[in-house]
Amino acid sequence: MGKNMKYINIFSIAFLIVLSSGFLSAEQLSDELQETYLKGNREEKRQQCSKEVAPALGVECSFCHNDEVTDFTKEGNKAKFMMRDAVAIGVKCNHCHAGKKQFTDKLEVAAKMIKLAEMMDVECNYCHAGKGVLTNEGKTAKTAMILQKWSETGNKICLDCHDKKKRFKLNSHGEEILNAQKGLLGM
Ligand code: HEC
Ligand code: HEC
Ligand code: HEC
Ligand code: HEC
Repeated sequence: MGKNMKYINIFSIAFLIVLSSGFLSAEQLSDELQETYLKGNREEKRQQCSKEVAPALGVECSFCHNDEVTDFTKEGNKAKFMMRDAVAIGVKCNHCHAGKKQFTDKLEVAAKMIKLAEMMDVECNYCHAGKGVLTNEGKTAKTAMILQKWSETGNKICLDCHDKKKRFKLNSHGEEILNAQKGLLGM
C-alpha cells in the first residue's frame, strides 16, 4: 500500500511536468487537427455531403465533383480547404454559409480572418484548435487584436510589427517593441 502511494505520487509529478511543458497538449492537438471533415465510410460521407454540405451551400453535387467523386471542380477544391478550416474552428459549413451565395452574420469576421491567414501565410489551425479553443499563438493574436483594435482597424495594423507571408515573424519595428518590452520587464 505504502509503496503504491509513492508510485502514484511520482507518477502524478511526472504527469504534471509533462502537462506544464505543453508536450501533451501539443500532441493531442495535432491528433485532433488531423481529423477530416467528412467521416466514416463512403456511404456515410455521401450522406454527410447530401444532408449537410450541399444544403449549406445551396448547390448540387456537381458544383464540386462528378458522380464518382474522382474529379473535383475549382469550387470542389476550394471546399477541401474549407473543410480543413471548418475542422480547425470546430464548426459546420452552415456556421458561415446560408444557402446559395448567402452567408450568416459570421461572414464579415470570417472574410477578414481568411485574408489575415493568407496575408501571414498560416492556416486557421495556427490560431484555432477547435470550437472556442485557441492555440498559444491564437491567444497572443487575441491580445494583439484587442490592443490594436483589430475589429475597427483591420488586418493592415498587424503589418506595423510583423512581416507579410512570414508566419508572424517580427519586422524591425516589432523587434524594437519587443526589446523595449523586455527592458521594461528588466529581462
Ligand atoms: C461544396 C462542395 C461539395 C458538394 C456540394 C458535394 N460534395 Fe461530396 N465531397 C466534397 C469534397 C471536397 C469531398 C472529398 C473530401 C475529402 O477528400 O476528404 C467529397 C466527398 C464525397 C464522397 C466520398 C468519396 C470517397 O471516396 O470517400 C461522396 C460519396 C460524396 N462526396 C458524395 C456527394 C453527393 C452525393 C453530393 C450531392 C448530394 C455531394 N457529394 C456534394 C465536396 C462536395
Ligand atoms: C468560417 C466561415 C466559413 C465556414 C465555416 C465555411 N466557409 Fe466556405 N466560404 C466562406 C467565405 C467567407 C467564402 C467566400 C469568400 C471566399 O471565397 O474566399 C466561402 C466560399 C466558399 C466556396 C466558394 C463558393 C463559390 O461560389 O465559389 C466554397 C465551395 C465553400 N466556401 C465551401 C465550404 C464548405 C464545403 C464548407 C464546410 C466544410 C465551408 N465552406 C465552410 C466562409 C466559410
Ligand atoms: C492569427 C490568429 C488567427 C488566425 C490565423 C485565424 N483566426 Fe479566427 N480568430 C482568431 C481570434 C483571436 C478570434 C477571436 C476568438 C475569441 O474572441 O475568443 C477568432 C475568431 C474567429 C471567428 C469568430 C468566432 C466564431 O466562430 O463565431 C471565426 C468565424 C474565425 N475566427 C474563423 C477563422 C478562419 C476560417 C480562419 C482561417 C481561414 C481563422 N479564423 C484564422 C484568431 C485567428
Ligand atoms: C506594436 C507592435 C505589434 C503589432 C501592431 C502587432 N503585434 Fe503581434 N507581436 C508583437 C510582438 C513584440 C510579439 C512577440 C511577443 C513575444 O515574443 O513575447 C508579437 C507576437 C505575435 C504572435 C505570436 C507569434 C509567435 O511566433 O508566437 C502573434 C500570433 C501575433 N503577434 C499576432 C498579431 C496580430 C494578429 C496582430 C494584428 C491585429 C499583431 N500581432 C499586431 C508586436 C505587435
